Amino acid sequence: MSKLRIGLLGAARIATPFIAGAKLSSRAEVVAVASRDPARAKAFADTHGVPHALTYEQLLAAKEIDAVYIALPNSLHAHWSMAAARAGKHVLCEKPLALSEAEAIEMFSAADAAGVVLLEGYPFLFQPQTLEIERLIQAGEIGRVQTIFATCGFTLSNPDDFRLDPTMGGGALLDVGCYPVSLIRQLAGARPTRVTATAQWHGGVDRTLAATLEFASGTIAQLSCSFASGLVRTAVIAGSEGIIETDYGNHTIRSAAPSFGLRRGSDWRRPTERIAVPREDGFRLEIDAFAAMIDGSDRDQQAARRAASIDIAWILETILARARVASS
Ligand SMILES: NC(=O)c1ccc[n+]([C@@H]2O[C@H](COP(=O)([O-])OP(=O)(O)OC[C@H]3O[C@@H](n4cnc5c(N)ncnc54)[C@H](OP(=O)(O)O)[C@@H]3O)[C@@H](O)[C@H]2O)c1
Repeated sequence: MSKLRIGLLGAARIATPFIAGAKLSSRAEVVAVASRDPARAKAFADTHGVPHALTYEQLLAAKEIDAVYIALPNSLHAHWSMAAARAGKHVLCEKPLALSEAEAIEMFSAADAAGVVLLEGYPFLFQPQTLEIERLIQAGEIGRVQTIFATCGFTLSNPDDFRLDPTMGGGALLDVGCYPVSLIRQLAGARPTRVTATAQWHGGVDRTLAATLEFASGTIAQLSCSFASGLVRTAVIAGSEGIIETDYGNHTIRSAAPSFGLRRGSDWRRPTERIAVPREDGFRLEIDAFAAMIDGSDRDQQAARRAASIDIAWILETILARARVASS
């Protein structure tokens, strides 16, 4: 089987670990990088051994490229995803896919019209760790899920980062809050029926935000995110018959001994088991899953990810709207 030939839109910071993940994949390879600045494209290509350095337009026109990886500021995801789809390229777009539910639906419609795959990049969702937690929950191993708490944050110190620009889709929720939102949506399997939120604002973007999501199943989830905290990415899933405590990193390969905690039963004196999970590069897993969707061998996953991405876009949009009202 020939390898999927991927072109990168944007000589972005995240493109470097993406290339490292692609090098571990037997199903795909990075063959080109595009930048607004030809010199930056050339320097990036030379540094990473990428064969071609192009402009965005040249990359979309190149017949030798099957798919694009979009690593652009959030406000540009929709425009370039749809331009790539119209050019006949499959699209792996960084999170968050879209700034609204309507934008996400338009992006999937463009992909459908062109007959290409569109996937939002959440490497952690393809990790064995996440899959095992989902399996345990679905098998009833922790009983009925009553609450989920998930948080994600770090200290953003570069004042010029697009993440602080409200016109570029900045803000903690869209940048890091989309991780707890995507984890909660994955475990709940639906969009919430009620959303409340509050935030602290800085320069027009949410710097720290917390939200509560209530689901028809009875599960209540709380999430928080921040650009002003220490590095954190953790979740606690509390069921009637057990508790899971976990991180949900994209790359367990970076962890000394990747694992999560499982305490069975409702008695706090029961020991917490450490469930070991394989070390994996999340980009390698994501790229392989993307390739399987393109060759048609994983249509169920493709449909599930599409439904989740549209729900995630709606949840992000709704949380921000509720937080704005709460602050007014
Ligand atoms: N999955 C993950 O683990 C992960 C981690 C970090 C970030 N991300 C996502 O990846 C995307 C990129 O993040 P990043 O941290 O890699 O960003 P970054 O280093 O700032 O790169 C963004 C790239 O976008 C291009 N660009 C095009 N128009 C731009 C404009 N008007 N302003 C600024 N840049 C522009 C630039 O490339 P050229 O100048 O070369 O065209 C720039 O290198 C975001 O959507 C982010 O949410 C994902």
